[in-house]
Amino acid sequence: MYAVPELKPCHSFSRIAVLTSGGDAPGMNAAVRAVVRTAIARGIDCFGVHRGYSGLVDGDIRPMTSRSVKNIIQRGGTILKSDRCLEFKEQAIRWQAYETLTEMGIDALVVIGGDGSLTGAKLFAEETGMPVIGLPGTIDNDIPASDDTIGFDTAVNTALDAIDRIRDTADSHGRVFLVEVMGRNSGHIASEVGIAGGADFVVLPETEVKADTFQELSTERTRFEEKSALIIVAEGENEQRIHQIADDLKQQGHEPRICILGHTQRGGSPTGHDRVLASGMGAIAVEFLLAGYGCHMVGVRSGAFFACPLDEIQLAHPESAAEQSFDSLWRLLK
Ligand code: ADP
Ligand code: F6P
Repeated sequence: MYAVPELKPCHSFSRIAVLTSGGDAPGMNAAVRAVVRTAIARGIDCFGVHRGYSGLVDGDIRPMTSRSVKNIIQRGGTILKSDRCLEFKEQAIRWQAYETLTEMGIDALVVIGGDGSLTGAKLFAEETGMPVIGLPGTIDNDIPASDDTIGFDTAVNTALDAIDRIRDTADSHGRVFLVEVMGRNSGHIASEVGIAGGADFVVLPETEVKADTFQELSTERTRFEEKSALIIVAEGENEQRIHQIADDLKQQGHEPRICILGHTQRGGSPTGHDRVLASGMGAIAVEFLLAGYGCHMVGVRSGAFFACPLDEIQLAHPESAAEQSFDSLWRLLK
């Protein structure tokens, strides 16, 4: 559970809108539900923008009621749909979106999305002056200011479910398996999955793979002693990386198999953890607007929700330097 900051309402709104943008993440629906229901409970009309920033630009904005968000807390994906809208990077298009909102009498916006979506939200709030609250919604957990993001826990558990199955066949054949997990340039999914899946190696985006990196996986160990090995590879920027590692292992006499988990990690019912996180963040987003915050993200740090200025979301705080904690835990477990 999360500690909630004490807030004094000092602003009023008649209409707010909510959208989901970028890669979808399990728990986005739970967050939308909480935004809508909290707004309605505070006497504010709530609108759903369809297809992320594309819907803001096209005016695809529809009224929402408590009933329109019933039976969605357990559903993956996003009922509002999501999109990557390249046009929104242009200032003139952001002003067009602002005009669409003001013509409909909407005076504040809640944006649920990843790093890119929150950058768009920051620019929109700074330029137009419209209050905007962002929620970190991404499986990648790559928002350094927040300890956690909506969808990360579900993605880790989905990947683990697949890895546990891969282990069965890897073990039967004494094979080396390379499993690629998502996360764009961040290694958070890979490091959690590596530890929880009992991997032999974790290749993070910044890991330098050298000729002797997998030396301890001698062919005798994996084939004659019938011991399988599991290597988790973060997708990173180089799509060929996992194939290059497999080629190196083949040259060392292994018969590696590759499994790319891909978009399976983005779907499915959110875990209880993600539902609670998303519900809390959605409700707090409305409370932050009423308390006068207008260019902030709802973050979580050491178990407490806090308002993080949108221009500081890339600043990590020392006590949650994830890479360092991974390294020390990994060394202990080895
Ligand atoms: P995510 O939000 O999951 O990181 P993206 O990086 O694709 O996904 O960003 C989602 C959307 O956010 C983009 O398609 C675009 O509409 C908007 N966006 C991303 N970066 C910017 C930017 N620098 N300026 C304005 N809008 C942006
Ligand atoms: O940001 C979420 C994410 O799933 C990343 O982990 C991945 O690199 C990317 O989105 C994939 O994007 P797309 O769905 O456009 O292929």
